[in-house]
Amino acid sequence: MSKYTIRGGNKIEGRLAIRGAKNSILPIIAATILNESVSTIHNVPDISDVYVMIKILESIGCKVKYEDGTLVVDSSNISSMEIDEHYVRKMRSSIIVMGAMIGRLDYTKISHPGGCAIGSRPIDLHLNALKELGVRIEEDDGFIKCFKDKLVGSTINFEFPSVGATENTMLAAVKAKGTTKIYNAAREPEIEDLQDFLNSMGAKVRGAGTNYIEIEGVETLHEVEHTVIPDRIAIGTYMVASAMTGGCLEVDRVIIPHMEPISDKLRAAGCNIEYKGNGLVMTPPKIIQAIDLVRTSPHPGFPTDMQAQLMSLMALSNGTSVFHETIFENRFMHCAELTRLGANIKYITENICMIKGVANLHNAKVKSPDLRGGAALILAALTINGETEVSNIYHVERGYENIEQTLRSLGAEILKIENLEKVKGC
Ligand code: UD1
Repeated sequence: MSKYTIRGGNKIEGRLAIRGAKNSILPIIAATILNESVSTIHNVPDISDVYVMIKILESIGCKVKYEDGTLVVDSSNISSMEIDEHYVRKMRSSIIVMGAMIGRLDYTKISHPGGCAIGSRPIDLHLNALKELGVRIEEDDGFIKCFKDKLVGSTINFEFPSVGATENTMLAAVKAKGTTKIYNAAREPEIEDLQDFLNSMGAKVRGAGTNYIEIEGVETLHEVEHTVIPDRIAIGTYMVASAMTGGCLEVDRVIIPHMEPISDKLRAAGCNIEYKGNGLVMTPPKIIQAIDLVRTSPHPGFPTDMQAQLMSLMALSNGTSVFHETIFENRFMHCAELTRLGANIKYITENICMIKGVANLHNAKVKSPDLRGGAALILAALTINGETEVSNIYHVERGYENIEQTLRSLGAEILKIENLEKVKGC
């Protein structure tokens, strides 16, 4: 497995330009299946999850070109109605193609994504919504078969505002007959980006960003060109890197309301954040302030995807902070690894922990437990004198474009060591 070695102690400072959001581009790539035409998408991040989606599209017959951050998909011809299980196993969120496939075709089959490290992650809300739209679903042997006996607008009431279920419903409803009304829809910014993309190809979707989304079905869609919104989670991660190392960070392009749930917590930790034009400038705290309670919740609450990184920051705060993870049942795996680096963390329950700031962390060999947990370990390592090793970095590469180059350009001493097994011959 590849790993990063990090010699910490340098300030992470300077100017940061971040490409498009992982959580936007994945459903947008799925949406390209719908228009039976060409989609040109700019600001696409070079991350491994994008390559999995590209492989999925190619496996069903789409022609795909990805160069310099621009992705061109021609979905005129679809040659396969089934999604290879291999891809769903590689990336759980590939379930997002289900809504688009059944929107376009009369039948599709996809492997059940199952759980993952951070939780059981059922897809009952996705499947119930598709059934509401008239899709007949058979689950057998770990696979989901969808039959489009009919696809009609309907009213969906989500009992929880699931991001993926909201997106899958939008994708299926775009070409349904009649109007679909989604109540208690997820409000994440990436859902607005999906709406913008769909509307640019001729769909009639409104309300994304609020908890009520309405989709009026259309018969045909057309070519589309779109630029993905900046990745608020990647930006937030680098802001924490600067806050932890005492550096000032300028971010070129942000969408202010998207950043606020993260900026709000960083301000509470003592950071100064000023929005300037389309960007922001962050000045680090002199002393990192403990935040009494950090509770994750659906947007516009504090995002679960920033919980691990903020915990790294609190590891060096001047007091005690309590973290309550409410979205996923097993998203504290980074705690054990942060503890190896000297953080003082105590579990209160499976989803509540208490972290008491320490003056310094110390080096150790740690393993990325998942995407954001891995990022949290890198952040911690940036503050530690001497060499810290972070392995299992394939998790991190799923969602951060060239993280080691980006950090190096901001002052970090970080090296990627590829395929250790091959080097050692084991
Ligand atoms: C998306 C994001 C992920 C983020 C999460 C929450 C993408 C590609 N991924 O994941 O980065 O952490 O939103 O903001 O956009 N649930 C059910 N039944 C369902 C669906 C979800 O019980 O049918 C539960 C999940 O197990 C989880 C919670 O709802 O506990 C939130 O899941 P959801 O909002 O669906 O997250 P994802 O779309 O998987």
